[in-house]
Order: sequence, then structure tokens, then C-alpha cells
Amino acid sequence: MKKNVNIAFIGCGNLSTSLVRGLLASGYPKEKIWVTNRSFDKNQSLLDTLGVNASEDNYEAAKQADVIVLGVKPQQMQSLTKDIASIIQEKQPLIISVAIGISTEMLSNWLGGDLAIVRSMPNTPALVSAGASGLYANARVVESQKEFAESLHRAVGLAIWVNQESLIDVVAALSGSGPAYFFYMIEAMQQAAVKLGLPEKEASVLALQTALGASKLAIESEDDVETLRRKVTSPKGTTEQAIKVFDERQFPGIIEAGMRAAIARAQELTTLLAKEE
Ligand SMILES: NC(=O)c1ccc[n+]([C@@H]2O[C@H](COP(=O)([O-])OP(=O)(O)OC[C@H]3O[C@@H](n4cnc5c(N)ncnc54)[C@H](OP(=O)(O)O)[C@@H]3O)[C@@H](O)[C@H]2O)c1
Repeated sequence: MKKNVNIAFIGCGNLSTSLVRGLLASGYPKEKIWVTNRSFDKNQSLLDTLGVNASEDNYEAAKQADVIVLGVKPQQMQSLTKDIASIIQEKQPLIISVAIGISTEMLSNWLGGDLAIVRSMPNTPALVSAGASGLYANARVVESQKEFAESLHRAVGLAIWVNQESLIDVVAALSGSGPAYFFYMIEAMQQAAVKLGLPEKEASVLALQTALGASKLAIESEDDVETLRRKVTSPKGTTEQAIKVFDERQFPGIIEAGMRAAIARAQELTTLLAKEE
């Protein structure tokens, strides 16, 4: 990864801070990183803990940057772009936005048009360097900018590209929200084990280690997940009985319906935020 690029994280909350930590862990020079938030205390703490340049001044941070990561909530994006549109038009940096529901076209319009924009959909396991990010680049993004955006996300896990912008909403419903689905499943397994008599602590450690082990095995094995599932599910065995109940209650259909609802909400957000223009 090129380490001479000045990068500004405008709106540096939970998610962006994990990207900054990943960059620093990969040996990126802290002098080349700027972060901003409106809150002085948050910036002071980022300065104290990470040693990066931190301030409340979005314009000044944008002025330094070859790459700008926009890390605010979707509803905060349009007002933020007013602070930085003029300097962005002057400097033409690569823009990377992590906001759900904001299209490259909306962002480009708010920032004055004709910009290289990457939409990124990371997830919170980035906080422990096990993130999974989906990326989409608009037509103005050049190869070296794509490489930089990819390396930035690879510093906290893995990254894949999608070639249609609408697929970013699918990525959001899969890996963006996905950690919550797995937490929900783990919670349900823990609660069931406690109801069936296991102490809470033991139920928790067994459920968590099982989730980690299943994922690690699936990543490292040459078998696909269906084959691995069949290997655990001996005919007439106990697992088979559990899977039979999941099938009868249409577990795959429930998951698909949930993901479709997440995508519908992302599309609704896009429509709502576009109307506010
Ligand atoms: N969390 C996830 O799993 C996930 C996954 C994929 C994508 N995303 C996207 O990531 C984005 C950020 O999520 P997050 O969880 O990191 O939220 P967050 O912790 O609330 O971060 C947003 C940051 O932006 C700052 N901010 C707000 N308005 C600002 C402004 N005008 N100028 C400068 N800074 C400003 C906030 O600090 P102040 O209030 O002090 O300004 C805050 O630190 C969202 O758009 C979300 O859609 C999240």
C-alpha cells in the first residue's frame, strides 16, 4: 500500500476509527492521517490515543487530503458536504463513503459533481481486524485509487468489489448487518441451553466458541458449508433432528425475508434522503 497519501476521516466515529487503527497497525504514518468530529473531547481522545491529526475543522482536514473517508451517519451527510464541497472541487480527492443509503450520484451532486467516489460497506468486526467489506467504484475512480481503497479496507479484514451500485445494498444486508444476525443466533442458542439446564456462563462460552470454530473450519476447509453441515448431520443422529425442525419452520425463508427487509429499508433511506436535496 502506498504510504505517502494524505487521508482524512471526516466524521470519525466507531467504524472509521477501526479503519484508522487498521492503517496504523499496518505501519501507515500517523502524520499522514487527519480525523474530524464536531466534539472536541472525541478528537482530543483520538489525538491522545492514536497520535493522528485531529480537529473540529472539516474544511482544513479536507484541504490536506488526497483521499477523504466520509464516516458520518446517512442523515448527517448532506449538511456535512456543505462544509467541504468547495475545497473538494478544488482538490479533486478520492471520496470514500461508508454511509448506507447514499448513492454516488447523490453524493456527487451534493459535492458539486464530477468526482471519483467509492462506496464502501464495512462491518464492525473491522474493530478486531476481522472485517468483511464490499466496495463499489464509480466510473471516475482510476486503478491506483481503487488499489488504495482496497488496501485501506484490507488493513482491517477482507474486501471484495461489486460492479453494480445496487449490490452495495445486498452487501449491507449480508455482511454489514450480518454480525447482528450471528449475535442473534448465538443469543438464541445460549438462551435455549440455559432453559435446558446449562449454567449461563458455560452456555455463553460454548456458543461463542462454536460460532468461531464453525467459521474457522469453513474458511480453512476445502469443503463448502453444505458439505460440512452434512458431515455433522449423521443419519438418524441428534443433529439431524434439530435440522429437521429448522427446515419444517422454514429457517432459510426467514433469513431471506429478513435480508429482503434490510434491503428495502436501505432503498427507502435512499428515496427519503434524495427527497431532502
Ligand atoms: N456500524 C456498522 O456496522 C456499519 C456498517 C457499514 C456502514 N456503516 C455506516 O458507517 C457510518 C458511521 O457509522 P458509525 O457506527 O461509525 O457512527 P458514529 O460512531 O456515530 O460515527 C459518526 C461520527 O461522525 C461525527 N460527525 C457527525 N456529524 C459531523 C460533522 N458535521 N462533521 C464532523 N463530524 C461529524 C460524529 O461525531 P460528533 O457527533 O462529535 O460530530 C461521529 O463520531 C454510517 O453512515 C453507517 O451507515 C456502519
